[in-house]
Amino acid sequence: MKNIMRQQRHVNRKATVFAPASVANVACGFDVLGFAIEKPGDIVSATTTKEHGVRIAAIKGDDGVLPLELHKNTAGVAALRTLEHIQHVRGEEFGVQLVITKNMPSGSGLGSSAASAVAAAVAVNALFDYPISPEDLVNFAMKGEAVASGSEHADNVAPSLLGGITLIRGYKPLDIVRIHVPKELCAVVVNPHIIVKTKEARAILPKKIALKDAISQTGNIAGFIAGCMREDYALIGRSLVDVIAEPHRAQLIPQYFAMKQAALQAGALGFNISGSGPSVFALTNDAQKAKVIARAITSVLKRAGVGSTAFISAVNTTGPKVKVV
Ligand code: HSE
Repeated sequence: MKNIMRQQRHVNRKATVFAPASVANVACGFDVLGFAIEKPGDIVSATTTKEHGVRIAAIKGDDGVLPLELHKNTAGVAALRTLEHIQHVRGEEFGVQLVITKNMPSGSGLGSSAASAVAAAVAVNALFDYPISPEDLVNFAMKGEAVASGSEHADNVAPSLLGGITLIRGYKPLDIVRIHVPKELCAVVVNPHIIVKTKEARAILPKKIALKDAISQTGNIAGFIAGCMREDYALIGRSLVDVIAEPHRAQLIPQYFAMKQAALQAGALGFNISGSGPSVFALTNDAQKAKVIARAITSVLKRAGVGSTAFISAVNTTGPKVKVV
């Protein structure tokens, strides 16, 4: 009886979710730090169907490059894992159909695959009245993200899903810590119009790092967290240093060091690669200066004949936006 009532409640429901882009690594926190921005973001609509399982009905805005096959699609896998879990604990009888709208390219360094995976996982969870907590949902969205990047990391998924600045304290089990967001912190994110595949950007990294580099990275990540907690913008800026990924990945991004110099000269607290690139980010505590920094970075690219899109955003502390009908 309970099952029948539940089925009636959930028939033909539709949940539409916007999940925001995010900046992963934040220079010093390879695979463990990330923050969400206001826009861009991907949108996934999920509708309950009588047929079991998950089906991707359409993908918009991807220029036909993303796969409709469920197991090859980040949103598809995230939705499937979420639905399987809900069916396991609640015995739901429904399937789900997805329509995915991409508002940023894959391989942009803006957390595009994570945003799609998060939007899909949150949409399925919303359809069934949120049986899974946002923190637990990160696990299922992360399975989707792994399809695109070849490894399970949550530094884009966690901030996109939970909002704010997040630290992955540990992966086994997943232990996510929300970091205080300094009130005036503002991000400039610039996406040069080229593609860098996360899988390839990960493949060029060394498997081992030197002790001196581990010491440097540890000091900087601790400095970044302390800087956020104390709203000490100079400390945040000094901590935006990466000795693990930047030395290897800078070569994948046109004009990287020229952009960095221009951003710092324009007054940025710090500058680095957003996720696995090619997007880059700078931080400031001055919203007016953000425009000057954005212009400085995009001008370098323009002079080199590379088109780009700039986003200026406070840290997005609210995460996904959900509408259920
Ligand atoms: N931490 C990841 C990386 C983010 O740098 O490879 C990109 O998904």
